[in-house]
Amino acid sequence: MITMIHKVLLAAVLLAAGYYDTAEGWDTVTIHVTNKLSTRRILIVHCKSDDDDLGGSAIDAGANITLVFGQNVFGGTLFWCSAAYEDKRLSFKAYEQNDHNTFVKVFDVSDDGVGGIDVYSGNLLHISRWRIISHLNF
Ligand SMILES: *[C@@H]1O[C@H](CO)[C@@H](O)[C@H](O)[C@H]1NC(C)=O
Repeated sequence: MITMIHKVLLAAVLLAAGYYDTAEGWDTVTIHVTNKLSTRRILIVHCKSDDDDLGGSAIDAGANITLVFGQNVFGGTLFWCSAAYEDKRLSFKAYEQNDHNTFVKVFDVSDDGVGGIDVYSGNLLHISRWRIISHLNF
């Protein structure tokens, strides 16, 4: 049986070795984001947590991206994504560790905003609508 202290020690070793995100059997989260804008504009998406910036992606019309990231072993991982096209912007919560067993999520970004589904539970996720802004501060 692996005790909590062993898990913490293992995590520390993995973190130090830079293997945290890719360690076999370690909990990772996968999210998919699809550009379903009817205007066929390129969608910019940028996801990050407090200590893990996944960088920005440009998603072509109809295309999707897949982001995979590790959970914080100490708990409390929270990932937010920003999305932008033209003068519109929104943000949505992509993942919160305390949701439990929500390791694959699919988000569709459309003219209305973003909606998502948790693949395992089938639950619909947080919806955000577009806001119009005067300049991008991405
Ligand atoms: C992402 O795009 C690929 C290629 O078109 C497709 O096969 C895949 O099903 C898409 N995934 C999602 C989650 O929409």
